[in-house]
Parts: sequence; C-alpha cells; structure tokens
Amino acid sequence: MLPHNAPTHWRILTLLKEKNGAYFSGALLASQLGLSRTGVWKQIRHLISLGYHIDSHPKEGYRLVAVPDLLLPEEILPNLDTTWLARTYHHLRQTTSTNEVLLRLASEGAPNGAALTSEEQVQGRGRLRREWISPPGAGIYVSVLLSTPLPVMEAAHATSVAALALVKTLRHKYGLHPQIKWPNDVLLSGKKFVGILTEMQSDQDLTRFLVVGIGINVNQTHEDFAGIFRYPPTSVAIELGSHLSRQELLIDFLNRFEALYDLFLDEGFPALSTDLEQASAILGKIITVHRGKEEIHGKALRFSPEGALIVSTQDGNEEQIWVGDVTRVEGTF
Ligand code: BTN
Repeated sequence: MLPHNAPTHWRILTLLKEKNGAYFSGALLASQLGLSRTGVWKQIRHLISLGYHIDSHPKEGYRLVAVPDLLLPEEILPNLDTTWLARTYHHLRQTTSTNEVLLRLASEGAPNGAALTSEEQVQGRGRLRREWISPPGAGIYVSVLLSTPLPVMEAAHATSVAALALVKTLRHKYGLHPQIKWPNDVLLSGKKFVGILTEMQSDQDLTRFLVVGIGINVNQTHEDFAGIFRYPPTSVAIELGSHLSRQELLIDFLNRFEALYDLFLDEGFPALSTDLEQASAILGKIITVHRGKEEIHGKALRFSPEGALIVSTQDGNEEQIWVGDVTRVEGTF
C-alpha cells in the first residue's frame, strides 16, 4: 500500500506498475494527478534519476521497463507487513556506517522501529572495532532502532532475534539452512554471510535504545572476497548459485524480525530458545569463547531460560556467558 503522504513521483510509479509494462498516456497521468504535462515529465525524470528504467514515447506516453534492485523506500514500504518496524525508513546511496547514522538519529528522537539502509558503507563497522566490507549494491546494510527498554543484560537478545529472523527468511524463501554462530554471526556451509552489531545507550540497568545493525552478503561473488577475512566468507548468491533480489530478502527479513521481536517482548527469551538451539552452529561442540580478556574453553551445552550460553568447562563447572566472541568451534566430544 502507498503511504498516505506519498510524494507525486511515487504515485506515478504506482500507476505505471499497474500497467504491467504497457504505456500510460502522459495526458491521462497529468489529469489523474492534477499536474501539467511538464510536471509529469519532471516526476518521470526524478524516477529515472532514482534508477527506474522508463521509456517515453511522444504519442503513447510512458512505460516502466525495469525496477532497480535498490533498497528504495518506494520498493520496500509498499510490501512490508509490519506495524512499527521500518515504518520510518531512510535510504542512502552511501554512508559511513548505518549504525553510526542511526545512533545519531536515535539521540535526536527518531521513533521506535526506524530503519536505515545504505547501498554502500565506507566505514562499515563490525564487532571489536573490525571493519565490515560493504561494496555498493552487493549486500544489505541495514540498521534498526529498538526503543522498548530492556535490562542491559538482555540487549544481546535483540541480536539473537535478528539472527533467527534471517535463518527463517533463508529457510522459507530460499530453502537454505543457515546456522547461528552465537551470538552475532550467521553461517551457510560453515562460512559467514551475516554479521550483526548491536550498539546501545542505557540509563543505569535499562537500555534507552538499541541499534541493531545487520550486514548480509547477498550478491557478492568469490572475487568480492579476495582479501583476508578472519572467518571464511560467503554470500547467499554463492550458496544458491544464482543472483537474487535484495529487496525481497530485506522485506521478508523485516517482516519476520518484527513478529519475532514482538514475541520476545511478550513472552521473553524462552519463546525463542527452541528455534535458537535448533539453528545453533555451536551447541554440542567444543568451543573457545573470549569474554573480555578471559578465554573460556569447553562444551557449549544449552541456553539458560534467561538466555545465557551455558558452557561446561574442563574443571566440571558450568559457566554462564552473556557476551563473548566464539573464536573456535572444534566438533563434538
Ligand atoms: C560483525 O560481524 O562483526 C558485525 C558486522 C555488522 C555489520 C553491519 S552492516 C550494517 C550495520 N552498519 C555497520 O556499520 N555495521 C552493521
């Protein structure tokens, strides 16, 4: 559905789409929208500048030939089923980091659920001050703002919700079976294709807001991964063997994210734990986790009802881990 305050170019786009590639007369467009013929042409030029391929013909009028696979609000918003997520939606051609910009917008009062995507990031950031390589148009770089206060200890669960939403999107839409390398990586065939970075502002023990930043390798090819990566990388296109629509993936992901986050807010972590355990790349395995300067080595057993990772260590203790970085996964006992 078109937003009620949609700008004119967007209304023209909707009319052209309804024609399924056939011509729409310029005179008719002008009269339907209360514009002059030059006014229509101006709007068409704007659509072309956004990346739409539109043919114009002196007698026949205009026809939409192709829609760009850009994460434009014109393509994302009409197809979302969400109530609050991404209802405020910003899209940039290039930025430093979507997390950085959305954190700033959040402190200036952006609403709960605001989302920001960029076609390219020049200072994409990963966890532990690493870089997230974000070439133009290949991946999805999106940040979402979650303003419902949570105990700070539970902020990491927003990362798990994002990871689980992606697992479900990949499973249901593409028949793939990703696994979550707790807490913030999602893997396909044991290689990383998603990284999640959750940043927050808090008042004592409660979060003021969270910005969950998700980087998804979608259409990257092997050549895009020529550099050195800490963890072997892959993309959805590499695993599927075909190029795919970033728009469709993002829409499905945002729809699932909202549903799962609402479930988590209503029922808490236990509502997610079975799905998280099934999708886990580490449970039952011997892992090494870095928690600050501390290194914990042991078998990843399960998640506690509150959402901590339980690891049994060699001295027979069970450690509860809330935040950490899994550096090694070594197979089962
Ligand atoms: C990691 O694996 O270390 C986390 C990577 C997170 C990357 C995403 S891309 C969108 C958002 N903006 C950023 O600068 N980072 C996150």
